[in-house]
Amino acid sequence: MKFGLSALVLATLAIPALSSCPYLESLTPERQLSLKQDNPHTSHKVPAELADLHSVKSDIVSLLHSSDPKWPSDYGNYGPFFVRLAWHCSGSYRTSDGRGGCDGGRQRFDPERSWDDNTNLDKARALLAPIKEKYGLTLSWGDLFVLAGTTAIEDMGGPILGFCAGRQDDDDGSASLPLGPTAEQEILAPCETNGECEEPLGTTTVGLIYVNPEGPMGEPDADRSAPQVRDTFGRMAMNDTETVALIGGGHAFGKTHGACPSGPGLPPNQDEENPWSGECGTGVGVDAFTSGFEGPWTTQPTQFDNEYFKSLLGFKWDSWIGPGGHNQWQVRKEQNVTAPTGPAADGDGTQEIMMLTSDVSLTRDPEYLKLVKEFAGDLEEFENQFKHAWYKLTSRDMGPITRCEGDMVPEVQEFQYPLPETPSAKDLVDFEEVRGSVEKLLSENDVGAELSKLAWSCGSTFRETDYLGGCNGARIRFSPGKDWKVNEGADIALSALQSVKDEFREKLSWSDLIVLGGTVALEKAGGKKMKFCGGRTDAADGSGWDYLEPKIDGSIKDDSKVLIDAIAKMGLTAGEYVALLGAQHSLGNLGGEYEGAWTSNTKVLDNEYFLNVMNLDYGLYNEAQYKAEGEDIYALKTDMLVKQIPELAAKAFDFAADESLFLDVLANAWENFFNADRFDIEGREAEY
Ligand code: HEM
Repeated sequence: MKFGLSALVLATLAIPALSSCPYLESLTPERQLSLKQDNPHTSHKVPAELADLHSVKSDIVSLLHSSDPKWPSDYGNYGPFFVRLAWHCSGSYRTSDGRGGCDGGRQRFDPERSWDDNTNLDKARALLAPIKEKYGLTLSWGDLFVLAGTTAIEDMGGPILGFCAGRQDDDDGSASLPLGPTAEQEILAPCETNGECEEPLGTTTVGLIYVNPEGPMGEPDADRSAPQVRDTFGRMAMNDTETVALIGGGHAFGKTHGACPSGPGLPPNQDEENPWSGECGTGVGVDAFTSGFEGPWTTQPTQFDNEYFKSLLGFKWDSWIGPGGHNQWQVRKEQNVTAPTGPAADGDGTQEIMMLTSDVSLTRDPEYLKLVKEFAGDLEEFENQFKHAWYKLTSRDMGPITRCEGDMVPEVQEFQYPLPETPSAKDLVDFEEVRGSVEKLLSENDVGAELSKLAWSCGSTFRETDYLGGCNGARIRFSPGKDWKVNEGADIALSALQSVKDEFREKLSWSDLIVLGGTVALEKAGGKKMKFCGGRTDAADGSGWDYLEPKIDGSIKDDSKVLIDAIAKMGLTAGEYVALLGAQHSLGNLGGEYEGAWTSNTKVLDNEYFLNVMNLDYGLYNEAQYKAEGEDIYALKTDMLVKQIPELAAKAFDFAADESLFLDVLANAWENFFNADRFDIEGREAEY
């Protein structure tokens, strides 16, 4: 069971089980310690083999140029529709907690499927269903959605960088509950005024992908729309260039749909039988109502080009109320100016081009305007920026490149925070020798608590929502991580380990040493022998830790819902988290500005911490920490939360009653957690 509270379901993506470790496999059988197989986190459907993506693409191309009378294609091409599908599936990603994105394929479920912004995308998914059925488990829905959009761009003459396959489908939409609009989102990230929502939400308007297209709070105010566009795309890690390239590249295609003011009908969560039935005329084709705006952005809506930018600059634009009853923009009616037209969606007649307030906003901000001019004048540069931004948009939630599968994966991108390749097992140091050196270090120096804390600080940045963080890369050696208050003292442990690093030099990475250092420190203090899989490599800088500063740091401001959320993001169960925390708080002092220790014997790993937390009466000692009444035992707010949150307290109680249980759970949790970021050694496992 994943950790969760009844009032606050915090389902997350899941850490796939490790299937093998080349280093361990290279050892003789008696030295071989295979990694734990029954990873409690695994809930995904991981197909045993990947579909032939080229064959999937050719099926998608055939579908693109068809038209189903139930939902006829505009311009005889479903391309724009599938681009929107892939964008909306991917665009829910947010850096604040790594949630969202198309991995998981959760757009099939509530809450996402009923978002206003996803109106009528049920039809796009239905059109793709036969392809999904043909390839079965070898093709995930998430991969299919992104590949459909990517193939459509290519088919319409757009530039493509490649395709990272390997998305794993979720069973339900629970991992999107924190995105809203839901009770869970209200608890975790309340938004006082929908339309002005702030981080950690990824959007100003819950239920939309980013911003209100009509303008802030529905006002056609293009000046004020630009900061909203920047703010919300920034929450997805997009800079100005990427933002303008994406919007202009996306709106090179297709049209908006708002044939009359009657609306799209009810969303799936209110009308499961006939969602978004469409209340204008026939409800389909030129009568479709999706967003309530009406018209194409360009005269060739199934052709990739930079006409969008040229039109933004080449005409004066006026807002008006379109046929769907919403504010949209038209070319100013002036003498000698004729608004360009393209074909009508059903091929019968023509239709004027249009813009949304959010489109016009790109000409109202000086930085955006520069880019609009650049892209209007330089198609090649636009193509280059667009293909990179599209790949980032659709692959950002996949984490490191080691998670990408298939034969269309482009070279590693900056946003994937590349690490050097894993050395082959034969080039690795003998880790038993390293163990010996660390043991010697520990017998000569009292640094066990520091080594254990260093490993935890290094590994605990891992978040399984977007697979960032973790100790692989040893980014704790660099800013920003090394400067975080929670990592105070890491330099002492790093200096202590320097002599071991010097002994094995480049055959031993800092990341392997940090993890093994913490592992040996816990074992030596009384923990069970833990399995270790070497082969981590070191990053060149700390950039991969940009968004990962822990939100729980032991300070008095720590709060229960943030802690629960942090545990969920790490992919830990309640028992695993409590065991890992207990290990950290059994050894050494509170450290930093704090006074005292959690236990009476700070050098031994036993269950005294749990006995203390569950049995002693603690009170505020000063404005920063707690002290047990009548005892020389201290604690932080996090420890008090363990006492207060029933699901955590239940585990702490079990560990207080059974030391051996604690040590067992700890050993398993430590092994799994420190390998959760090892996608370099993960194999593809059949599972349903
Ligand atoms: C369509 C808004 C960014 C691709 C639309 C529609 C709206 C909209 C209102 C009309 C939907 C309908 O009525 O059918 C926005 C806003 C954006 C944004 C406010 C950001 C400020 C993007 C991006 C892409 C994209 C980044 C892709 C890279 C598309 C496509 C369509 C579309 C292809 C046409 C769909 C079709 O023809 O069926 N967008 N969009 N949009 N959007 Fe965007």
